[in-house]
Amino acid sequence: MDRPGIIAENVGVRFGGFRALNRIDLEITPGNLHSIIGPNGAGKTTLFNVLTGRLQPSEGHVRLGVRDITRMAAHGRVHLGIARSFQVTNIFHNLTVAENIRLAVQAVRRAESWTFWRGVNPDLNVEEILAATGLQARAADRAGTLSHGAQRALEIGMALGSDPRYVFLDEPLAGVSIDDIHRIKNLIRSLTPRRTVVLIEHNMRVVLDISDRITVLAQGEAIAEGTPADIRANPLVRAAYLGASV
Ligand SMILES: Nc1ncnc2c1ncn2[C@@H]1O[C@H](COP(=O)(O)OP(=O)(O)O)[C@@H](O)[C@H]1O
Ligand SMILES: [Mg+2]
Repeated sequence: MDRPGIIAENVGVRFGGFRALNRIDLEITPGNLHSIIGPNGAGKTTLFNVLTGRLQPSEGHVRLGVRDITRMAAHGRVHLGIARSFQVTNIFHNLTVAENIRLAVQAVRRAESWTFWRGVNPDLNVEEILAATGLQARAADRAGTLSHGAQRALEIGMALGSDPRYVFLDEPLAGVSIDDIHRIKNLIRSLTPRRTVVLIEHNMRVVLDISDRITVLAQGEAIAEGTPADIRANPLVRAAYLGASV
């Protein structure tokens, strides 16, 4: 299949005696924007780590379509089109915006020449990423001079350096000012349907507005999954997470 889904089957993660994830079944449909929400400590980042290959689950499997990738390391998954932007910023503040993006693109091109891997679209160059992220006018500015929101846009742009089919974003709106939220929200939404986006985000207004599917985690369990309308109406979710006001 050209664009397989990412599937978690009965995934469990234990840290010593503590169960961070328990029996998670999840399917990320290609082209969707699929959000993972839940209170702090629910296991959202741990699930990202399992899906992107930074962490091996204690139980269960991760598949890309029919292919079992449970034991495949993160760099192997990048070659399957799975990329991740990190909560902790990877930006080089003293380099320009364009130089940061060029580094992200070159990191993949180098890997490509070693492995003869042909997954990278050679047309997806620095200019294209600048255009996609709305950062053209800032291309020659040092990254350190950007607003926090523009830096988050740059991080997303760097995650696009490998021309990924699957983009994992962990709290891309954290610390972003109200003025910049709209722009980052539109940027995230614009990645689909060409790319599949998996999003962890606390801003419920944004999540309910832009998601195709939402999975709700609480204490390591998936307590609900559905469309934004389903999630908004789910009494279990309201009790566990949303509060009566949403
Ligand atoms: N490497 C680790 N070792 C031990 N406990 C961890 C580790 N990573 C996460 N945890 C614990 O697992 C739980 C889920 O963490 P995390 O996935 O970061 O939650 P979330 O991203 O939803 O806030 C938390 O209680 C956290 O303290
Ligand atoms: Mg987290």
